[in-house]
This record gives sequence, C-alpha cells and structure tokens, in this order.
Amino acid sequence: MALTRPIADTTLVDQALSTAPSHALGDPVVVVEGLRKSFGAREVLCGIDLCVRAGEHVVIFGPSGSGKSTLLRSINLLEEPTHGSLKVFDVEYGPDGASGVRRGNPLELRRTVGMVFQQFNLFPHLTALENVALPQRAVRRTKRAEAEERAALALRRVGLLRHAAHYPNELSGGQQQRVAIARALSLDPKIMLFDEPTSALDAELVGEVLEVMRELAEAGMTMVVVTHEIGFAREIGDLNVFMDQGVIVESGDRTLFDSCTNPRLQKFVSAVL
Ligand SMILES: Nc1ncnc2c1ncn2[C@@H]1O[C@H](COP(=O)(O)OP(=O)(O)OP(=O)(O)O)[C@@H](O)[C@H]1O
Ligand SMILES: [Mg+2]
Repeated sequence: MALTRPIADTTLVDQALSTAPSHALGDPVVVVEGLRKSFGAREVLCGIDLCVRAGEHVVIFGPSGSGKSTLLRSINLLEEPTHGSLKVFDVEYGPDGASGVRRGNPLELRRTVGMVFQQFNLFPHLTALENVALPQRAVRRTKRAEAEERAALALRRVGLLRHAAHYPNELSGGQQQRVAIARALSLDPKIMLFDEPTSALDAELVGEVLEVMRELAEAGMTMVVVTHEIGFAREIGDLNVFMDQGVIVESGDRTLFDSCTNPRLQKFVSAVL
C-alpha cells in the first residue's frame, strides 16, 4: 500500500493507536461515586470515584491492603458500602444514591456482574461440568439438562470441554481457575470482576488463565481486573488504576506505567516490573 502521509506522522498515529483502546467503548455501566467502606472504626475505602464503560477493561493494582479486593467486592455487594453511590446499568445499589433513581437488590446485581477469585472455590465432590452447572440451577433455577448444556458451552469457551467429567483434584490449578471462569460466564454476566485470578497459580500455569481472559477481553467483555501482572495490564488495560491506602492515587491509559510522576506509583511499578 502506498504511503499517504509522511513517515513521521505515521509513527505518531501508531503511538496513539497503541495507547488508545483497540475497540470502541460504550456508555458507562458501572459508576462509583464517593464510595466509602469501613470495617469497624477503620475506613479502608476512603472516597472512590470510578467509571467503567461498556466494553472497557479496567485494571486495578496497588500494594497489599490498599483496598483493591474491597472495592471489587463492593461492586457486586459482597461488601456493603458504608457511604456513596454505586450505579450499575443505571440502577442504584449504594447507600447514598440520588433520589428518583431505581434501586436494585444484591441478587439482581450478581446476575449481571460475575466474579472470579484468587482461590477457585470449586466443590471437590462435583465434576467440572457440575461445578459450572450448579450456580445456574441455584441462581436461575435452570433445569438440569439446560444448565448442563450451558455449562458445556462455557467449558468449551475456556478450552476445557474434554475435562468436563473431571473432578477438581484431577485438574491443574490453571484448569481449575478456568472452570471457575466458566462458572461465572455460564450465568451470562454483562460485567466480569477478577480478583488476582492468577496469584495462587504456579508461574507456568499463569499464561493459560491470562489467555482465556485475553480472549474474553477481545470478545468485548467489560472487565475489572485486580492483578499484579503488569505486562497483561499493558496489553488489555484501557484504564489502569493505582490504589494506595484506600484511595485511587492515579489512573490513566497504557502510558501510565511509563509516564507516571507519582513517587508512590513509580516505586510500586519498579518493584513489580
Ligand atoms: N472483612 C474484613 N474485616 C476487617 N478488615 C478487613 C476486612 N476485609 C478487608 N479488611 C481490611 O481492609 C484493608 C483492605 O483490604 P483489601 O483486601 O481490600 O486489600 P487488597 O488491596 O485487596 O490487598 P491484597 O493485595 O493483599 O489482596 C486491609 O487492611 C484489610 O485488613
Ligand atoms: Mg486483595
């Protein structure tokens, strides 16, 4: 193809493209405003504002104890915020939402927002297929045959259909985490939350889980991911969020890791890279 502009321009465009999301972002689907969470007298989220748009991939990172898990767990109400507003698809779930906005309940929220944890939490006495089918039967009251059919589809999506009849102790950690991802996907969530999904894995098993997450991201899933895998964050993170001591210290696109001037962020990034 003939060059239609000077090479210098092309380089600038390439740079811009490498930092901009490779896909169009939609409307805000999660809007967190002034979110606070205390455990007893101790406030661990100290006023968080965060907006996640449809199709966006948000990566949250920061030191241990900074409140990352608490924020993620608050987004699907596994933790109840003490103050602030949490809107998901324009429905208010926080304690301080504006009047006139429709209020929703936790069960309704968890049908929309799937979550994957560091520990896979599979039932040891159930096969991979049964583990994936169970929540559909419990949450959606889906009949067994349909739940198992959907479970098989979800297992195929994470590349584990041929392991459907295996029990967790017959699967590697990476495979177990992929079953946990399939379990969340089988409920057809619109948003997926991942809390350090690879931290409990041996290094050689991390890649297969990140690969499944990468495919989900490429398929357009809205994702909020807590991870220390900075390479992965650079790859998929449309918005990268650095938390410390219960606040968002800095956030930005993929250039955040290179251009940061905040000393706390610089120190953290140089320690994990
Ligand atoms: N259920 C709880 N009861 C009391 N304190 C809690 C509870 N859950 C979390 N905390 C405290 O809240 C703070 C934030 O914890 P959180 O788990 O959100 O941090 P994190 O950033 O996810 O850390 P890590 O990187 O170690 O997972 C910590 O000081 C923690 O001890
Ligand atoms: Mg955590």
